[in-house]
Amino acid sequence: MKLESKLPGTKASIFSVMSRMAMEHDAINLSQGFPNFETDQKLKDLVTKAMNDGYNQYPPDAGIMELRELISQKFNNLYGRYYKPETEITITSGATEALYNSITAFVQKNDEVIVLKPAYDSYEPSIKLAGGTPVLVQLKGNDYQVDWEEVASAITNRTRMIIINTPHNPTGTVLSEEDMLKLQGLLKDTNIILLSDEVYQHLIFDGTIHQSASRFPGLAKRSIICGSFGKTFHNTGWKTGYCVAPAELMKEIRKIHELTTFSANHPMQRAYAEYLKQPEHYLQLAAFYQEKRDTFLKLISGSRFSSKPSKGTYYQLLDFSEITTEKDTDFAERLVKEHQLAAIPVSVFNINEKDHSQLRFCFAKTNETLEKAAEILCSL
Ligand SMILES: Cc1ncc(COP(=O)(O)O)c(C=O)c1O
Repeated sequence: MKLESKLPGTKASIFSVMSRMAMEHDAINLSQGFPNFETDQKLKDLVTKAMNDGYNQYPPDAGIMELRELISQKFNNLYGRYYKPETEITITSGATEALYNSITAFVQKNDEVIVLKPAYDSYEPSIKLAGGTPVLVQLKGNDYQVDWEEVASAITNRTRMIIINTPHNPTGTVLSEEDMLKLQGLLKDTNIILLSDEVYQHLIFDGTIHQSASRFPGLAKRSIICGSFGKTFHNTGWKTGYCVAPAELMKEIRKIHELTTFSANHPMQRAYAEYLKQPEHYLQLAAFYQEKRDTFLKLISGSRFSSKPSKGTYYQLLDFSEITTEKDTDFAERLVKEHQLAAIPVSVFNINEKDHSQLRFCFAKTNETLEKAAEILCSL
């Protein structure tokens, strides 16, 4: 049979490659973004209860109303924006599905989508599958600031969408209020949709306020905002997320959601709906992860790595230029093979694989794991 790939240039994701290597070399895995500690027992009990109570068949396609109502309240309380649970909120199989549905619903053949690099690796293939063209704009310097003038010059009459991600994977930077106002100004009087990936919304440090697109009226009316319960509540394997958007956008997204999964996992939705009733479950996360970040940075303070503390997410970039002039991909490979520690080389997410001699480490790990990893890093 002669098959023609729809994504011929797409290789195995760096996350699968590094996690596989970590297993092969029995290495500590600080590469892929997931915690190695357990999700709250209360949440597991709530899932079990939901199953025992008989919530084992398809839920409503857009998600159970109780959960949509709680998400609506959360946006209202945190960002001052009301989304109608009936028509403006949909529960999905992780944020990945929400992102895919949003791109598929709106990007047509020959449309352009602006993607800020480095970027999470699902965006570009999804754009290409929809027949669109990713227009890549590199974040500036090794602290990854947005050059809004460059973004402005990337906008053409074919631009259908721009994708942002704050707090940002893989760099741990966050967009400021000024950034968002500049973006709002740029998109005014255009037909461009903003796809705002906010899966790390609660993982933001040093008292910084999360600048959700929903806070800005000129952005909110054109924005689809994606969230992830897996990232928020330490259970990435449950693959449950959501998106919110004005009704006219959501109507189209739901058409794709019906085709991709129809509905997301029912017992998990019941459990999250109960758990979200207590806002401290998500409000305490910033302090929890800030402490992890600080523990990790303190543990490696005697090493030859240099860093700026991550401002959000559970990733920390470390600069290794004092240790070696190797390419980051080579150093990451050597680190896992010779020192049994897995991390992600940042160049794989940059335009032309630009290499700033930085590796990304996930600090969503037990203190014991962080200590073992730091011992290796300090020995280099
Ligand atoms: C920026 C970003 N967006 C989306 C996702 C996917 O989220 P989910 O696991 O809910 O599909 C991830 C996962 O690492 C991510 O880092």
